[in-house]
Amino acid sequence: MQTSFISSVTEEHIQNAAAILNDGGLVAFPTETVYGLGALATDADAVKKIFAAKGRPADNPLIIHIADFSEVTHYAREIPPIAKALAEEFWGGPLTMIFKKQPSVPDAVTAGLDTVAIRLPSHPIAYRLIKAAGGGIAAPSANTSGRPSPTTAADVKADMDGKIEMILDGGTSEHGVESTVLDLTSPTPRILRPGAVSLEMLLPFLPDCTYAALGHCDKPACPGMKYTHYAPDAKVFAVKTLSVLEVNRLAENNPDAGILALHVKEAGYRAAHLLSAGSTAADYAACLFSYLREADRRGIRTLYAVLPPPDGIGTAVINRLTKAAGGDIL
Ligand code: TXA
Ligand code: MG
Repeated sequence: MQTSFISSVTEEHIQNAAAILNDGGLVAFPTETVYGLGALATDADAVKKIFAAKGRPADNPLIIHIADFSEVTHYAREIPPIAKALAEEFWGGPLTMIFKKQPSVPDAVTAGLDTVAIRLPSHPIAYRLIKAAGGGIAAPSANTSGRPSPTTAADVKADMDGKIEMILDGGTSEHGVESTVLDLTSPTPRILRPGAVSLEMLLPFLPDCTYAALGHCDKPACPGMKYTHYAPDAKVFAVKTLSVLEVNRLAENNPDAGILALHVKEAGYRAAHLLSAGSTAADYAACLFSYLREADRRGIRTLYAVLPPPDGIGTAVINRLTKAAGGDIL
């Protein structure tokens, strides 16, 4: 299949993309978190094509992207009143809420679960595409399953060229890590995946909100967590307790080793490949996945990724790096 790559997206392109979706095709589109790979949420056959294009296990459910809060009721039932307040505060934006599903939502979307994940993105191209398509768009991140999520249209092309109908380029994703996944169907609200909307930000609305076990988990409540994610070809070590000196000692004399860290130069890190994650956890999140891809392009074989402080979006960075490291923490 020929994949159309659209670099300056016009209203006409949005209409073409919406037509592709309504014909049962797949379109990759930008969001403020990472790029998504979309199909019309009500089209089970199209949704199945997403799993084929990504090589995604069929038991890992998708998020439905909507353009207005009122559309939640098309896909979800028993919506708790707090959802409206959360939507007013955090939508459009990087928060996904899990509700009980409507029977009409195809099993292909929810992987046969009784619940459905819904989010309203803020990226204008995502928003216009959902509006033009005339219904919710089921979309996972637009990477090959197991690879780092794409934060640019070029990253999407690297994984999806020839497999999908269209890629819409909307620049580099603002947040760089996927949305916070919040389960509102459990006895107390739980964050299944940390993102830019942090626990600290949710607590004023949900005082009893907690993180679910964020590591390896194969209970159905957190289907995405049992798979290794975000793994580049390089062996990643998540550095939690080692000092700068100790990391340098591991990396310094190895031409194929890299260090990814905040304040990488000022802190005195030394390696053949120094990857600067900037100076804040938000900077780190924004460049994390592109560096994991860059590490492969540069031929880095061992990557020491120094973890940021464990609060705010730093929790999401730690979660993704711990997964990329397959749990190898130094
Ligand atoms: O920021 C994002 O969320 C991006 C953009 C494209 O919106 N999407 C994304 O989708 O990251 P995906 O499929 O890569 O991750 C969705 C996560 C998975 O871990 C999946 O297991 C979980 O959400 N999920 C989806 N539906 C669920 C459900 N009903 N119950 C529990 N977890 C669910
Ligand atoms: Mg994903």
